[in-house]
Amino acid sequence: MISKAKGTYDVLPNESHKWHTLEEKARQICVLFGYQEVRTPIFEYKEVFHRQNEQSDMVTKETYNFMDKGDRELTLRPEGTAGVIRSFVENKLYVETPLNKLYYIGPNFRYERPQKGRFRQFSQFGVEAIGSNDPALDAEVIGLAYSFIQKLGLKGVRVRINTLGDNESRAAFKAALKNHFEPHVDTLCEDCKQRIDKNPLRILDCKIDGQHPAVVKAPTTQDYLNDFSKRYFQSVLTYLDVANIDYEIAPKLVRGLDYYTHTVFEIEADIEGFGAQNVLGGGGRYQSLVKELGGPDLPGIGFAFGMERLIIAMESENIAFEQDPRTDIFFIATDANARTQALKLLFESRNQNMVADMDFVSTSFKAQLKSGLKKNAKYLGIIGETELQNKTISLKNTETQQQEEVPLKIAIRSLKDWLGK
Ligand code: HAM
Repeated sequence: MISKAKGTYDVLPNESHKWHTLEEKARQICVLFGYQEVRTPIFEYKEVFHRQNEQSDMVTKETYNFMDKGDRELTLRPEGTAGVIRSFVENKLYVETPLNKLYYIGPNFRYERPQKGRFRQFSQFGVEAIGSNDPALDAEVIGLAYSFIQKLGLKGVRVRINTLGDNESRAAFKAALKNHFEPHVDTLCEDCKQRIDKNPLRILDCKIDGQHPAVVKAPTTQDYLNDFSKRYFQSVLTYLDVANIDYEIAPKLVRGLDYYTHTVFEIEADIEGFGAQNVLGGGGRYQSLVKELGGPDLPGIGFAFGMERLIIAMESENIAFEQDPRTDIFFIATDANARTQALKLLFESRNQNMVADMDFVSTSFKAQLKSGLKKNAKYLGIIGETELQNKTISLKNTETQQQEEVPLKIAIRSLKDWLGK
């Protein structure tokens, strides 16, 4: 037996309805907010993700990189944003409309240590709004994430928000961090030693040095914001208040990717056994990514939720998922002629939008009945010897146990009436 690859999982038939619920709700909320779906490739040329300015662990250490037979260097996407922006630039979406509001649902790949809520292949639902510097758009994007969580029925969830400021503020913050960490260089992990010069922000969310006293006491972004960045953040908060979105300010929140400027946010849940995986989703504003990927100087803002974490969170709060539709009618036929008749009705029922099925394994009445009941069918359609002779079918309501023999000709119409279809 060959098992699944480490860090991956199967969505089995008895669980797929959970995914349908989530995907459906994601699409619904995006329609309400005016976001359109974009589907980009699962692999991209390496440089879409491996950019000069992106030194996050996620990109430098956790990507799946490979060469194809034409010696092209490719990367399985570790996140959605960079690929969406690549597509936005390549297809010049900015020409038609000044603001593009896009969403996506799909798999991503990171070579991480698997644990509860952390996989090597995982799925994200994300949005990107590209083309506006308006702080109201930050509130709209956070509002979309917030409404989504509410529509899922999740309760123990917090929106945490911070600002990294504009490029100038971010540079000042980085310089302050560098000064702060330099005296501690010898006690930091090997990676963080390198990070002091290259990108001290990444020390703040280092998985090894996370609790190092120097990290705990590190400066926060607030003290390095210029006036413009402070005003920008204040406007975002005001708009969030206006939109009735609960949030808490998290001065230490910096996020794990390097493209962020100004607003950053995360959505957290208190879930037992979740540990560090209690972040359901996160995002923020990015000022330079579009330009970095060869496009015009346009800003964007977005977020992504981890679908698996949302499902775990919903399960732990005992939130019911929508079930896939129940079988309307299950046909049972006792001999070959009856079977031909049943098959005809089976196809007709489906043409009439009824969920219909029959047993393709067993021929005995008893076994077929068992299959129909296992399917939890609303009606059983039985064609036995008598029915065959009378050109009828016995339709049995499995809830009321009432059974009626109806002429074959009106069987489908009767069923539709009874089912209210
Ligand atoms: P991220 O914080 O790296 O941001 O990932 C977003 C979410 O994806 C996480 O909060 C988590 O729920 C889920 N996630 C990440 N890694 C894993 C994993 N290994 N297993 C399971 N779930 C995982 C981004 O990806 C940004 N692209 C978000 C964004 C969009 N920023 C702006 N626009």
